[in-house]
Amino acid sequence: MTLGRIISFEERGDDRGTLVALEENVDVPFDIRRVYYIYGTKAGVVRGKHAHRNLQQAVIAVSGSCRLLLDNGRERTEVVLDRPNQGLLLRSMTWREISDFSEDCVLVVLADRLYDPADYIRDYHEFQKAVAEGR
Ligand code: TYD
Repeated sequence: MTLGRIISFEERGDDRGTLVALEENVDVPFDIRRVYYIYGTKAGVVRGKHAHRNLQQAVIAVSGSCRLLLDNGRERTEVVLDRPNQGLLLRSMTWREISDFSEDCVLVVLADRLYDPADYIRDYHEFQKAVAEGR
């Protein structure tokens, strides 16, 4: 797995509807130290455009849909997230650009570390250089 991996979460559905529960190191393969969510994204906006030096994340479109461009410095792929019972696992050193947000998109992100601005690589050429140098 060098780019994103989709994992399916167990749905605990009954005649009332559906519930998904996520536990660290059970449903998501890392310690969950931070949760953030993105919503109300304006039409045409592209978010992300960065990589993390050392961060694992699981991205879940709990409502609506969006598209992720993933790039590990060697190959690129695109993933559409549109199911609340699926998560996209992102490892360190994955450049991501998130676009095509539906109006109702709510994107929940679980992360294994607290917010650290120093962990970000926001320049694509710097990212490519870091990959090439194995940093
Ligand atoms: P930003 O990294 O620009 O979002 P994206 O990568 O999705 O475009 O974050 C937007 C703002 O939120 C910025 O001021 C930093 C802040 N922020 C936190 O305070 N904590 C967090 O965990 C995250 C992800 C962002």
